[in-house]
Amino acid sequence: MTNMWDDRFAQADGYMYGERPNKWIEQNMPALSPNSRVLALADGEGRNAVWLAKQGYHVENWDYSAVGLEKTQQLATSQGVTVVGRRVDLINDTLPENAQFDAIVSSFFHLPSQHQLSVWRNILSRLAKQGVLLVQVFSHNQLGFHSGGPKDYDLLYGVDAWQAILASMKIDYFQEERIILDEGSHHQGEASVISIKARKG
Ligand SMILES: C[S@@+](CC[C@H](N)C(=O)[O-])C[C@H]1O[C@@H](n2cnc3c(N)ncnc32)[C@H](O)[C@@H]1O
Repeated sequence: MTNMWDDRFAQADGYMYGERPNKWIEQNMPALSPNSRVLALADGEGRNAVWLAKQGYHVENWDYSAVGLEKTQQLATSQGVTVVGRRVDLINDTLPENAQFDAIVSSFFHLPSQHQLSVWRNILSRLAKQGVLLVQVFSHNQLGFHSGGPKDYDLLYGVDAWQAILASMKIDYFQEERIILDEGSHHQGEASVISIKARKG
């Protein structure tokens, strides 16, 4: 079964969001002990996953795009690292078994508002105690910009949605902010994002 993201990743000229990690993640990822387990959630073509693997961590990319996961493997191989890809629909499938992570990172994972709280709560159940969550997503205000992201209000995030998702987390940073994106050909220019760094208590 293919999906919209398979088509996009297959048709892209190279890597849609580039081969470098998202800057929020790169600049805010704490140094974990070697061999820590990190989940790059909905990491598509694998730019964050591969960078994390290069930091010496055991990294998984959970995403429902077979093409994205294939491109992740190509990027990992070209950079001499290993990333475990798991094809999973984060809304409809049961999450992979036995996985607890020391950090969960994700950039621009968008899903319908009715699923945002339940999917993220489910994901956060896989974060170990003291584990770190790093997220950057587009906010509702991104509809006023042309730098990427869904053109559908329902797929974007409100600050209130994240306040609910993060209710049981310790917050280090939580901000809706304007930034300049420079990520491959599809994220370019001024953008309205929500950036999050939190920890499981
Ligand atoms: C905008 S792309 C971002 C990819 C990557 N995180 C990045 O920043 O380069 C969104 C990703 O979310 C994935 N995705 C969307 N809905 C999903 C779902 N229900 N289950 C699993 N993955 C999903 C897509 O396959 C795609 O890889």
